[in-house]
Amino acid sequence: MSARVIDGKAAAQAIRAGLQADIAALGRAQGRPPKLAIVTCAPAAAAEAYLRAKLKAAVETGILAQAYPCPADGEAESLRRLIASLSVDETIDGIIVEQPLPPHLMTPGAESLIASAIAPGKDVEGMNPLSYGVFFRCKSASEIQAARVFPPCTVSAMIELLRATLAPVAGREAVVVGRSGILGRPAAHYLSALDATVTLCHSRTADLAAHVRRADILFACVGRAHAIKGDWVKPGAVVIDAGMNRLADAWVGDVEFAAAARRAAFISPVPGGVGPVTTAVVLANTVRAAQR
Ligand SMILES: NC(=O)c1ccc[n+]([C@@H]2O[C@H](COP(=O)([O-])OP(=O)(O)OC[C@H]3O[C@@H](n4cnc5c(N)ncnc54)[C@H](OP(=O)(O)O)[C@@H]3O)[C@@H](O)[C@H]2O)c1
Repeated sequence: MSARVIDGKAAAQAIRAGLQADIAALGRAQGRPPKLAIVTCAPAAAAEAYLRAKLKAAVETGILAQAYPCPADGEAESLRRLIASLSVDETIDGIIVEQPLPPHLMTPGAESLIASAIAPGKDVEGMNPLSYGVFFRCKSASEIQAARVFPPCTVSAMIELLRATLAPVAGREAVVVGRSGILGRPAAHYLSALDATVTLCHSRTADLAAHVRRADILFACVGRAHAIKGDWVKPGAVVIDAGMNRLADAWVGDVEFAAAARRAAFISPVPGGVGPVTTAVVLANTVRAAQR
């Protein structure tokens, strides 16, 4: 193996450690630590595990976190009302809605109603269409930093891992595979704001391998185990894999890890790459939201 494996757990730990002084200052200034509200309406055991992990990460970081359960068969309107009440609650700094939502709420209309109820200043996952629109109007990284909204959190996590490599981005060829509104498309936008030259690929891309072979920076946002073959990876590339795919006995990413690691300069593993950093970004955004 020649690639350096980007340690997402260590990166997440560093982000959380870097928040300690700000959390202490906020505690002194407002008499309480920052608080994150986690709205959840998925009863599945897997969702419970994710929720527990988020609550634990928040507590360990010194951030208050509380789950606000909603019935799994509840209507979008009742979820909207709950989120609207959290949005005006002055003791809450950040709001996230656990994904996936139950199937009857996974329509564009319901998702938009729910996401729009999150006050943009508390939208620490970057779900509100207003946050999204402001982010997409930013042309440069400095504009994104200055905007009073948060980019989609998994995208921020991928960018954090890319930055951790110290690899040059401006002028480089970046290829993003996957064009979902929550991940691939905003990732392509962020890379463009960092002055990469970006190609956005998807399931109808002709000759995906040829595009991947050109990528100095490869962002995998597919959700298909090993959809990106290791021998497509350009020697010396930076590979950031957001895919979370369950095989019979393991979680794997979208990229064939071992074969890709023989060619890449840096590669993020699955698990232990983008996932833990995403949680750390949500906590960091909660602190930023409280400071504002
Ligand atoms: N680590 C984290 O914190 C985190 C957070 C969010 C998501 N994820 C993971 O990221 C992955 C993607 O999530 P998502 O919500 O963006 O998924 P999604 O909405 O299903 O989008 C998948 C994208 O991949 C494209 N695609 C599918 N098969 C392809 C193929 N064989 N070749 C090229 N492109 C292909 C699709 O193309 P079309 O547009 O043509 O259909 C689509 O644009 C999932 O594994 C998810 O679990 C991880």
